[in-house]
Amino acid sequence: MARYTIAYCIILNVPVINAYSFRPCASVSLSVVMADVSLHQLFAKVREVDDFAAVLRTVMEDVASKVDFSHVKSCVAMGAHHGEREIDFARRLLPNLRSFVAVERDPEAVEVLRANLQKGVLPGVETSAVEASVQSWSGPDEPVDAVLMLNLMNSITAADRKALFQKLMTQYVSDGGMVVIANSVNSVPSGYVLLSERLGNLLADYDELEQEMAAVGFRVLYRQDYELHRDVSNPSSDIVTYIRGFTGHSESEARAAIDDIGLLSQPNMNIFANRLGIFTK
Ligand SMILES: C[S@@+](CC[C@H](N)C(=O)[O-])C[C@H]1O[C@@H](n2cnc3c(N)ncnc32)[C@H](O)[C@@H]1O
Repeated sequence: MARYTIAYCIILNVPVINAYSFRPCASVSLSVVMADVSLHQLFAKVREVDDFAAVLRTVMEDVASKVDFSHVKSCVAMGAHHGEREIDFARRLLPNLRSFVAVERDPEAVEVLRANLQKGVLPGVETSAVEASVQSWSGPDEPVDAVLMLNLMNSITAADRKALFQKLMTQYVSDGGMVVIANSVNSVPSGYVLLSERLGNLLADYDELEQEMAAVGFRVLYRQDYELHRDVSNPSSDIVTYIRGFTGHSESEARAAIDDIGLLSQPNMNIFANRLGIFTK
């Protein structure tokens, strides 16, 4: 189970290892590490205050009228966590799906994911959940018609993304197959992006991902902007705790960062710009 360190500790000028992604975050001179809590628990709390489920439903209605997914019979969902958004996507947009594989590295999330898939939420579809990182996963038995990567990229380094996108192009995705990426657009100012960056949790940017996908030969079939709402003005809120979970900062450091950035005096800081991109080979 992925857990953050329980102890309150002082770290002097050493890189903090990001418990979520196991890669170093910004170097900090003093880090007070938060109470023991699993990634699954943190993420579940964020989703309680986040409107992604409702917003995605609206986005999918637009996508349904513009993109034809009728050829999609097989799908891999990477970084699916409990799988609920990917299941929503498959139920609404993939009417001819026969095989659905979810790849998720967090063991606690995989347990919930398996339980969700066993509820028969995708009738007539063979489903499975693999506990693995996308970097170490050996890939599908045969190329698949669709790969979903919703909100996955923040924890994958640029080098690992390059390798993954290359594998998508050469091994994982069938000819005419599609890749769906949902990610933040960091050039639009938002409290979530500013605070994450200020605390050293660098977020992947959708525009960068699109360039990386193009570099291995994918082309954009469709893109759609959407706005999520994430209020980071309260340093003791679940959403700020979630950001602190990536960086090891204390609540008082988060409060100081919020003041430094002047978040409370800027308008519309709770709007978090995101984009969905659908790519094909
Ligand atoms: C922000 S959550 C998004 C979950 C879901 N896709 C959604 O949008 O609701 C990212 C998920 O990706 C998983 N993850 C992060 N890095 C991963 C990796 N390298 N391989 C597999 N899963 C990963 C995390 O454990 C987490 O469950």
